[in-house]
Amino acid sequence: MKNYIQEKLSNIVENFKKDSLLDKDANVRIMVENTKDKAHGDFATNIAMLLAKGMKRKPIEIAELIVNSLSTDDKISKIEIAGPGFINFFVNSDFLSNAINELVTDPKLGVKSNKKLETVVVDYSSPNVAKEMAVHHIRSTVIGDAVVRTLEFLGNKVIRANHIGDWGTQFGMLIAFLEKQEKEQHNDFDLSDLEAFYREAKVCYDNDEVFAEKARNYVVKLQSGDEYCRTMWKKLVQITMTQNQDIYNRLNITLTDKDIMGESLYNSMLAPLIEDLKQKNLAVKDDGAMVVYLDSFKDKDGNPRGAIVQKRDGGFLYTTTDVACVKYRCEKLGAQRIIYFADSRQHEHLLMSWDIAKLAGYVPDGVSLEHASFGMMLGKDGKPFKTRSGGTVKLKDLLNEAVARATTLLSEKSSDLTPKEKENVIQAVAMGAVKYADLSKNRTTDYIFDWDNMLTFEGNTSPYLQYAYSRIQAIFRKTDAKVGKVKLVEEAEKNLAQHIVKFNETVNQVAEKSMPHLLCAYLYQLAVLFMKFYEACPINKDGVELEIRESRLALCQVTANVLKTGLSLLGINVMERM
Ligand code: ARG
Repeated sequence: MKNYIQEKLSNIVENFKKDSLLDKDANVRIMVENTKDKAHGDFATNIAMLLAKGMKRKPIEIAELIVNSLSTDDKISKIEIAGPGFINFFVNSDFLSNAINELVTDPKLGVKSNKKLETVVVDYSSPNVAKEMAVHHIRSTVIGDAVVRTLEFLGNKVIRANHIGDWGTQFGMLIAFLEKQEKEQHNDFDLSDLEAFYREAKVCYDNDEVFAEKARNYVVKLQSGDEYCRTMWKKLVQITMTQNQDIYNRLNITLTDKDIMGESLYNSMLAPLIEDLKQKNLAVKDDGAMVVYLDSFKDKDGNPRGAIVQKRDGGFLYTTTDVACVKYRCEKLGAQRIIYFADSRQHEHLLMSWDIAKLAGYVPDGVSLEHASFGMMLGKDGKPFKTRSGGTVKLKDLLNEAVARATTLLSEKSSDLTPKEKENVIQAVAMGAVKYADLSKNRTTDYIFDWDNMLTFEGNTSPYLQYAYSRIQAIFRKTDAKVGKVKLVEEAEKNLAQHIVKFNETVNQVAEKSMPHLLCAYLYQLAVLFMKFYEACPINKDGVELEIRESRLALCQVTANVLKTGLSLLGINVMERM
């Protein structure tokens, strides 16, 4: 609808230019906004104010000119001028009723990509081997997965890339440590604490010369493809990823083993890559190392900054891997868009890697490289999120605590659910709450992790939305009436319908900006408007005419479908009963 009005206005502006009322090079940003108070129409624009200067007329006169050249039609029932020159549009409620009717049976709920469909590689989660997933990995995992689901729902081809940290010199040390553990019969090594595993290996490395020697030797062997070392290395990766997969499953994340494309994948491509960069005169020798100088990055003296791509000892770096990785994604995977869900601290590293890849001609024109970065997760004290004793919070513990808290929250609600159903509700509420807390904030800002704000049935939370869904299902259980044809009459019905039809626009925005919080805000507003409608417009009460009841049930149905689909794009489940 917004686009529709925008288009009409844009035609009028073009005509003004043709009639020389406005300079033909004038750049006018036509904005159509949703109004807050529906008594003043459904949409409004301030275009008359924007044109006043260029047309050397009063806004009110321009508004009159515009309104005179607009006509009402099947979509717009009334156009009004307000105040100094605002133009208000009233949507034809028959048109809106029909639009909702169409959604009742549409599994896509009116969602269609407004961009050409693409092959999108999404780099997300990307934890490191033999380390516990840290907080920034949770953010990447949860937000990345929501964007992946959204892009797929729109019809794009999405390739999930779990760029795990599974390569580097630390693997010599880890292999030697694993070997030691196995020899000492710790076959059931409790790797629930991978962090400790890594730390202990490091202690051995620093204090035991024999161990250190072996570790260094294993690095060389691993890199030359030695079978024993590769087997041990694979074990480490497997132990780590089995654990992480548990977390993915609990959190309802769509990643599987098949999506692992770790740093090791690019190892064999690094030497030829350096050769190529040399040939193209991009990589030059500097103090024994190979360096690419980048004009787009300046050092403190204003000279191009160098990015090392190969160390003096021949070793490669994190940057080298990421250059090869971009090349691979463009050439082998056919990516047209690549989105990296990574900590904001990686920004410069990514920009440098992409720059090198672009200079080398690995990135075809039109391929979009995007860093979807995010801020930190903070504790209530505003400092980085830590345990009481100052340690890193383990994701597993965090999820367990969410379950415990959800159990308490739900025990306050009386219900006639079976124990099994109850368990299911607890899990869905707990995981939904943790994910939604992260998803509902603009990802670029730091956010405060606060149990009390996320596990509540009030406000912009997952439990509130899940509850709204279950509540609609209860309405259906209490009636024999069927979903009928929508006819919007009451203000509350129209407000709800107006909002429902914005689902398409919202989903498209999430995909375009990689920002799921826009969908959260949309869904929350949907639930709020539904509750208002439900209070104002009785459904199952005696005396409600059948036709009206059926129309309202249709609104219930569409609202429930949008809630369910919207939450599923966030990876959050709903329940028929709570
Ligand atoms: N493994 C990295 C980390 O733990 C994140 C990887 C991000 N992706 C990339 N292509 N560099 O911080």
